[in-house]
Amino acid sequence: MIAIEQGYFTESTSAEVVISRNAKARDQRLAAALAPLIRHMHAAIKEIEPTQDEWFSAIRFLTATGHACTDWRQEFILLSDVMGVSMLVDAINNRKPSGASESTVLGPFHLPDAPELPLGSDICLDQKGDPMLVRGRILSIDGTPLAGARLDVWQANDEGFYDVQQKGIQPDFNLRGVFRTNERGEYWFRGVKPKYYPIPQDGPVGALLNALDRHPYRPAHLHYIISADGFQTLTTHIFDPDDPYIASDAVFGVKASLMARFQPIAEPGDGFDRAYFKVEHDFVLAPAP
Ligand code: BEZ
Ligand code: FE
Repeated sequence: MIAIEQGYFTESTSAEVVISRNAKARDQRLAAALAPLIRHMHAAIKEIEPTQDEWFSAIRFLTATGHACTDWRQEFILLSDVMGVSMLVDAINNRKPSGASESTVLGPFHLPDAPELPLGSDICLDQKGDPMLVRGRILSIDGTPLAGARLDVWQANDEGFYDVQQKGIQPDFNLRGVFRTNERGEYWFRGVKPKYYPIPQDGPVGALLNALDRHPYRPAHLHYIISADGFQTLTTHIFDPDDPYIASDAVFGVKASLMARFQPIAEPGDGFDRAYFKVEHDFVLAPAP
């Protein structure tokens, strides 16, 4: 007779029976990762006690989530975002030493090949929205300015859309650019004041948020990937603290340290011929491990 290490499957032993089946896996990291998942999934099912119909609607939801994925849309990442899992994985992988700028989600709208532009360039290619000057420095933890640091920035327009969501409406690479800090570690560029915007709502994740009476909005922000030789690359945002959704970001990306002041300037200046917004924000990079 074949030995059954954990006995047959029963309601009370379910998780341990399944976990023991994976004990001889060639990939022990896979088995070790699945064990807590199985344990917690079984515990959740025992707590929820779904009916067969309820379980089938969960399966239908996951099926629809898979069907919504295309080459340019990843509905499972969006599901992970609205469940807070993306931010948790980000937090675990980006524990920073005290004084270093904090990270937040990358999001789906980064393009790796945005143009490198001279400092001071306007990344807004269609002149729509309220003009904004963004400036600051890239520093190490001891306050040394980092010359030649690379700053990749992207943002939505004043209607809450990225260029890749409005092909043919916005110019390609609108509101994107790569800059290098000068010898004093300074960067500056022009853009438009961002506005809150909804994450994609036309798929199963949008339907889930709706069923939970949750709004789909992200508070106004600018995205950055900042890198310099000898330092950890920082993927982060700055946020407008006055945004109506600042305390309820649909994907939990807001951190207190990532607030920036979007200062309204009533008179023309800084090269603008009308009122504009000024944002000053320094970033501090952690040393590479
Ligand atoms: C974004 O900020 O671009 C974003 C992040 C997570 C989900 C959707 C959008
Ligand atoms: Fe965004």
